[in-house]
Amino acid sequence: MAKVLVSAVLPGPALDRLRLHHEVEVGADPTGLGREGLIARIEGASAVITRVSDRVDEAVLDRAPALRIVANCAVGVDNVDLAACRRRGIVVTNTPDVLTDATADFTFALLLAACRRVAEGDRLVRAGGWRGFSLTEMLGVRATGASLGIVGLGRIGRAVAQRARGFSMRVRYTQRRPADEAVERAADAAYVSLDVLLAESEIVCLCCPLNDSTRNLISRERLAQMRRGAVLINTARGGCVDSLAVAEALQSGQLAAAGFDVYPHEPAVDPALLACENAVLTPHIGSADRPTREGMASLSVESVIDVLAGRAPRHPVP
Ligand code: GLV
Repeated sequence: MAKVLVSAVLPGPALDRLRLHHEVEVGADPTGLGREGLIARIEGASAVITRVSDRVDEAVLDRAPALRIVANCAVGVDNVDLAACRRRGIVVTNTPDVLTDATADFTFALLLAACRRVAEGDRLVRAGGWRGFSLTEMLGVRATGASLGIVGLGRIGRAVAQRARGFSMRVRYTQRRPADEAVERAADAAYVSLDVLLAESEIVCLCCPLNDSTRNLISRERLAQMRRGAVLINTARGGCVDSLAVAEALQSGQLAAAGFDVYPHEPAVDPALLACENAVLTPHIGSADRPTREGMASLSVESVIDVLAGRAPRHPVP
């Protein structure tokens, strides 16, 4: 039996399965051990199951010379120093596919909530500020038939495009290179440059990974390129946008609304963004439906069991 460190309790039966194979240590806080907690607890571990809030860098890896796998219970792996793991021969795995639909559903939930001022309306009713039905108040952005620009036509971007068809949206996308024709056809989405996508989309959704080419992608300059009154949705990573610039754009009307599920320094949220009534802000719950989270847990556990048994895991990160 090898020592497996799990950053925090996992949903569903996955941990019980892992305990049949290995000695399992689980962090007590449901939000995870974080980098410092990993440093304190990882010594002697052959495997670690991490979450997006756990930074895995050289300092963590230095404490765990026996480590063979970092199983990140997420699709994004921007919290893991992949190059450092590669140098040490440590396998990194993630949990794609299983969370695609949940995240696309949630992207649409945010999109509709932002366009139609759902959270703002909820706050108004709860605060007792609703004065009755009005034909002129709380008017929002029309989602049906809107032009939708998707940044990143990966699995989640494609699932968002598929949902957009039900709303008769005109879908375009951008990324480093155009996708295969078959992918474009299936998504019914046309490739355009980022300049065109920003200038012409009424709604822009970020569905891209965070890496050197997407860090701060939506900067003050990029926001100025967008159509006045556009809507920005981010279920990707907080580091893809300049949140202060977004807050200014929300205040000035350059953006009509925004829906954010992710932030650069979670759980902190820029106070300027918190002050915007027209921002719908959720606590990184894009993949948080029960079957999805249980599926992610199960995939992470299977990856650990496979790698420690000398088998190839299902989802190694290259
Ligand atoms: C969550 O943000 C994930 O990357 O799965």
